[in-house]
Amino acid sequence: MEILKRGGNAVDAAIATALALSVVDQKSSGLGGGGFMVIYRAKDKKSFALDFRETAPAASRRELYMKDGKAAPALSLNGALAVGVPGEVAGLVEAHKKFGTLPLPVLAAPAIKLAAEGFPVDAAMRVAIERMQKNMKLFPDLGRIYMPKGEVPNEGELIRQAELADTLKAIAQQGAAVFYQGWIGQAIVETIKKESGVMTLDDLKNYQAAWREPLIGSYRGRTVITMPPPSSGGVAILQMLNVLAGYKLVEFKHNSAFYLHLITETMKHAFADRAAHLGDPDFVHVPIRKLTAKEYGAWVRGRIAPDKTRPPTFYGYYNYNAEKGGTTHFSVIDRFGNAVACTQSVNTRFGSKLLVAKAGIVLNNEIDDFAIHAETGNVYGLIGNQANSLQPKKRPLSSMAPTIILNGNRPELVVGAAGGPRIINATLQTILNVIDFRMPVKQAVEAARVHHQWMPERLAVEAKIDAEVKKALEQRGHEVREQSALGVVQAITWDGVTMNGAADPRKVERARTE
Ligand code: GLY
Repeated sequence: MEILKRGGNAVDAAIATALALSVVDQKSSGLGGGGFMVIYRAKDKKSFALDFRETAPAASRRELYMKDGKAAPALSLNGALAVGVPGEVAGLVEAHKKFGTLPLPVLAAPAIKLAAEGFPVDAAMRVAIERMQKNMKLFPDLGRIYMPKGEVPNEGELIRQAELADTLKAIAQQGAAVFYQGWIGQAIVETIKKESGVMTLDDLKNYQAAWREPLIGSYRGRTVITMPPPSSGGVAILQMLNVLAGYKLVEFKHNSAFYLHLITETMKHAFADRAAHLGDPDFVHVPIRKLTAKEYGAWVRGRIAPDKTRPPTFYGYYNYNAEKGGTTHFSVIDRFGNAVACTQSVNTRFGSKLLVAKAGIVLNNEIDDFAIHAETGNVYGLIGNQANSLQPKKRPLSSMAPTIILNGNRPELVVGAAGGPRIINATLQTILNVIDFRMPVKQAVEAARVHHQWMPERLAVEAKIDAEVKKALEQRGHEVREQSALGVVQAITWDGVTMNGAADPRKVERARTE
């Protein structure tokens, strides 16, 4: 708001927000992580998609994540081998170069102040630190910052990050080079080396953010602008909207058993395709056009039985014969009608738990988003195949789904979520709540959700879903499990007169469960 009031545009505000989050919410995103930004420019009605996802270091190989011939999942979650080459700084500087109107030092000033003077611990941060006490001891540099008195801080206590303030000042004044080639990069590599990781200064030097062609689809007369691979989020959202467009959803009772069965079956198809086909487009061919075709949506619709769910092999394009957290999302609209949907991540809570002491940066554990161990899946239980295999310099597949929905030329909904694979389904259900059920944005974000990711064969439902509805879903063959905080959504709606924003109250709950 401060930046918008100073005359900055939506991208300026997004950059300032991302930098501020890199101080006040390093458990979810920050300079040691990466993300995706979808941008709509009002003046020429053009949209853009910026990919600043992490990459695997050049020396990465699957064997590093095995111990005595067996999968060692902890290695891609905690410590130096979990860390992907961070993309955040390259991404924000690139967004600034192309769209920024205020100088970078102005955009970084609020973040620098928060780092130098301290920020008050909020409920979500306190809960996350409490849950991570063991790791705060195992990773003393992290503990020094987040448990400065050796114990879990109370809400309202200040956390100061002097080194991070210096890091931010250096980036604001010198740009991305000081991070990727200068003293900050050297400090990162020293930390990684000390902890037996494989990332080098060359990996940092070679990192580049990438402009990608945004995915553009349609739903109920609106234009849907969303993120292409290496996120699976946008493809899955378009796929599911294409399936659901064939139903008059508003005629079903919201969150009734029939409605939830329908969207669950739609989710199962999309996640089966995610596992089979999605990966870094610089390494594998992703059949985006086929998966997001309206005809494919219609075919999937034809396979959805109203009264039963099916075994896993039934789902996905294979059958088409016609041919624990990190991550944070924020949405911005400015007075010009520009919009930004930005999702960024360090993956799980506090990423790899490694904090670069000299630079104050928490490093991600995004390597776990590769399909390293097909037999066990990753921390979210997601499985995948060759398309998302670990390879040097490759970007791990993401679920992030920053999305802008235009009604004519007006951004009607700017939306996205945190929560690993739940991102996709939380974003979908918020879109349906706003566009089909015409809920005000707060209600749309807060309404109870469900989540199915095809494998494991489990339908997660939030506690607020009626007991009768759960029973009716079980009768259709779903294995129903109650689970809290199925994604954390941040959304803005604009009806042409009033802009309304909603922040998901699940943020604290999610910190507890991830
Ligand atoms: N690290 C969460 C995601 O990208 O899906």
